[in-house]
Amino acid sequence: MDITNSRVVVTGGAGFIGSHLVDKLLARNNEVIVIDNFSTGSYRNLEDHNTNPLLHVVVADIREEAEILKAIKGSDFVFHLACQNVRLSLRQPTIVHEVNATGTLNILKASVAAKVKRFLYCSSSEVNGTARIVPMPEEYHYRPETIYGASKLTGEYYTQVFHRAGWIPAVIARPHNNYGPREHYEGDKGEVIPRFILWVLSGKPPMIYGDGTQTRDFTYVTETADFMVRLLECDEALGETYNICRGEEVSILRIAELISELIGLDKPPLRLKGRPSDVLRLYGDATKLDRTLGAIPQISIRDGLKKTIAWFREYVTIDETVFATMQNESWKSVPPEFFLEGL
Ligand SMILES: NC(=O)c1ccc[n+]([C@@H]2O[C@H](COP(=O)([O-])OP(=O)(O)OC[C@H]3O[C@@H](n4cnc5c(N)ncnc54)[C@H](O)[C@@H]3O)[C@@H](O)[C@H]2O)c1
Repeated sequence: MDITNSRVVVTGGAGFIGSHLVDKLLARNNEVIVIDNFSTGSYRNLEDHNTNPLLHVVVADIREEAEILKAIKGSDFVFHLACQNVRLSLRQPTIVHEVNATGTLNILKASVAAKVKRFLYCSSSEVNGTARIVPMPEEYHYRPETIYGASKLTGEYYTQVFHRAGWIPAVIARPHNNYGPREHYEGDKGEVIPRFILWVLSGKPPMIYGDGTQTRDFTYVTETADFMVRLLECDEALGETYNICRGEEVSILRIAELISELIGLDKPPLRLKGRPSDVLRLYGDATKLDRTLGAIPQISIRDGLKKTIAWFREYVTIDETVFATMQNESWKSVPPEFFLEGL
């Protein structure tokens, strides 16, 4: 089933991955409805399409059932990406549960009510917790280590139930770590690659939490968006879960070294205290994706980093304001829930 010339909803479409998915869907002449509350997303991520009549932005919270029901009505496909992030889940588990778990149930119900043709749930490799088998296949003994991971897994289970019950044909995409243009560097949203890039571009060494041996399987963001579309188009993928990853394990220390090398900084990384609940090893198995689609993401970490560095050079003005938003533990400014006080 082709996703072209259709009406497509992207929840979280103003966010990092969501906005790349919006780019792809608009390029295929779809009318795109972005549902986003702009808590972490931004209009800047969609600015290339400011004058595109095919893009409609609905500012709504996925916890508000009536609002989203109205926004999804008349649509053909739904890509559900809206979520609250992993680091917020350390301090504010309730909101993360409400958005990621209950919000997903709301979007599923609204999609059924709107009789959409197909639904994609964007999950996360964090449902696995630290890898005990590598590479991690889709069928795995899940041991999420954060409320974020557990809430994303709940979203997977709800999606499976809706599919099995025959309420909506659905597929689950489980991206591993993404990087690329528009990635967050600020506060509790800040991710490792953009922070390293900004530090190194300004002549400062990258700062690593722990010893840097923790690993991730990084995918360049445009490829993740592409594979999400291909999965939802594929009949064989319905009812299934797919890792979207390269199947390549890279340590955080290696990322720091590569970024320094590509930018030309000759300073060793600084080591900081390890973070609570940091997953130590994530490394996905892309075999199932390859079997079904005959392809997996191809952009190497070196090439992807080059493109990402070029984007940050062009679009982010590096000054003290940028560094102020990147304070090491600025996520601590979000007050913790009462039961976490003093822990
Ligand atoms: N970035 C990664 O490396 C990565 C890896 C695996 C999975 N994922 C998944 O990809 C999806 C997108 O993540 P991202 O990295 O682009 O994050 P992001 O924070 O950039 O995007 C999330 C979007 O959801 C919106 N949102 C949050 N709460 C909302 C609410 N209550 N109602 C409506 N909109 C709301 C935000 O404003 C934002 O635009 C998420 O489902 C995430 O779990 C991301």
